[in-house]
Amino acid sequence: MRAVVWKGPREVAVEQVSDPKIEDSNDAILRLTTAAICGSDLHMYEGRTQAQPGQIFGHENLGVIEEVGSSVKAIKKGDRVVLPFNIACGWCFNCARQYTNACLTLNPQSHGAGFGYSGLGPYPGGQAEFLRVPYADFNCLKLPGTPMDEYEDDFVLLADIFPTGYHATEMAKVGPGDTVAIFGAGPVGLLAALSAHLRGASEIYVVDCVPDRLNLVHKIPNATPIDFSQGDPVEQIFDLRAEHRRSVQDLRPNHPGDKMPGVMCSIDAVGYEAYADSAAGERQDPNQVLNNVIRVTNPTGHVGIIGVYFPQDPRGVDEQEKQGKFTMALGEAWNRGLSFEMGQAPVKRYNVYLRDLILAGRARPSVIVSHRISIDEAPNAYEQFDLRQNGYTKVVIKPQMQGTATVKRGEVQGEVVHERV
Ligand SMILES: NC(=O)c1ccc[n+]([C@@H]2O[C@H](COP(=O)([O-])OP(=O)(O)OC[C@H]3O[C@@H](n4cnc5c(N)ncnc54)[C@H](O)[C@@H]3O)[C@@H](O)[C@H]2O)c1
Ligand SMILES: [Zn+2]
Ligand SMILES: [Zn+2]
Repeated sequence: MRAVVWKGPREVAVEQVSDPKIEDSNDAILRLTTAAICGSDLHMYEGRTQAQPGQIFGHENLGVIEEVGSSVKAIKKGDRVVLPFNIACGWCFNCARQYTNACLTLNPQSHGAGFGYSGLGPYPGGQAEFLRVPYADFNCLKLPGTPMDEYEDDFVLLADIFPTGYHATEMAKVGPGDTVAIFGAGPVGLLAALSAHLRGASEIYVVDCVPDRLNLVHKIPNATPIDFSQGDPVEQIFDLRAEHRRSVQDLRPNHPGDKMPGVMCSIDAVGYEAYADSAAGERQDPNQVLNNVIRVTNPTGHVGIIGVYFPQDPRGVDEQEKQGKFTMALGEAWNRGLSFEMGQAPVKRYNVYLRDLILAGRARPSVIVSHRISIDEAPNAYEQFDLRQNGYTKVVIKPQMQGTATVKRGEVQGEVVHERV
């Protein structure tokens, strides 16, 4: 079969590799209909993880079951399923408590296993024609409909970024009426904004500097884009909040001063590859967003860090960062009494409910998908997505699509048009 294989920093190739086989009676083999490229793949692509050449990428996987092992009961050949990016056994101490992001049995090296990712166990990824799925009964989420129907690109986002965006709002404790600031308008930040809306937030600010990503923020109800290339994003949010704050203070006249100028909930959807605010898109500062979320969050507020910070970064900007050490204003955070949660999203905790929101017509996360490509186009798509250029926001690979066609999203009077490039 063909698969997207990492060759070295900023180089992937589509290569012929052996087909996966059933290795355990719990396994199934998936035939991929869509596999998405994630911002997390870029960390490996750029050589900023311990990934080894030959690694097959792909942890956002949707398809049809081709074959099942002898003990698989709930899934059969022909079922349409999406897989969580974290693979889990379902019965260990952490899985039993719904922390499938930290499964204790599937990764020989550490807690937590995943498809196609450095450090997450010996599991190839799904940017390929076929994929082996361990513990298929537990990991497969069944879906209605047929491959390539109108939900195809919504369903593939159930593998990672929709549940991940939702988990970010869970960590930041977003509830009805809350005010929310999200740093990063990549796929995760945009779907965190959608999730904040679904949870009833009253004001949602989404910070980035990439114009097409900021434009997509307008597609999320109640969400306001903030361009950090135009000035300190935290000050911009304070200014926008000022009017509303004044009216709240009128209702509570005994609260003097501006003691709550920011938001109650904030989310870091950028991680360690953050640009410095003062040099948008030019120079990285891994501490930038950590400190912005603290500044923007009001006393007693909540912070969710969904963006990745790795324990090692071979290409870190300084010695500290190379060892996964970051500098943040902990004293200020403590003084404000902020809560922090962070880490990998336990996809399985949410994906069934988010699937049902899609089916009920309450959420169309695929609004952020920008490019639908054949597998042959993957090397070019990685390059463009890595540069965050030409509108490359979320790329989905169709392994069954032939040739080098790319279907690009364009907007004409509110309608989606497809153009070949
Ligand atoms: N915790 C999890 O389970 C999980 C799952 C998936 C992805 N992630 C991580 O979430 C992060 C975002 O993922 P993505 O797919 O959206 O990636 P992405 O790289 O496409 O998006 C990141 C965005 O942040 C913007 N950005 C850079 N510096 C900024 C700054 N100082 N302020 C505001 N915005 C800034 C970039 O312009 C970009 O648009 C990545 O670190 C990814 O690895 C985590
Ligand atoms: Zn991902
Ligand atoms: Zn487990």
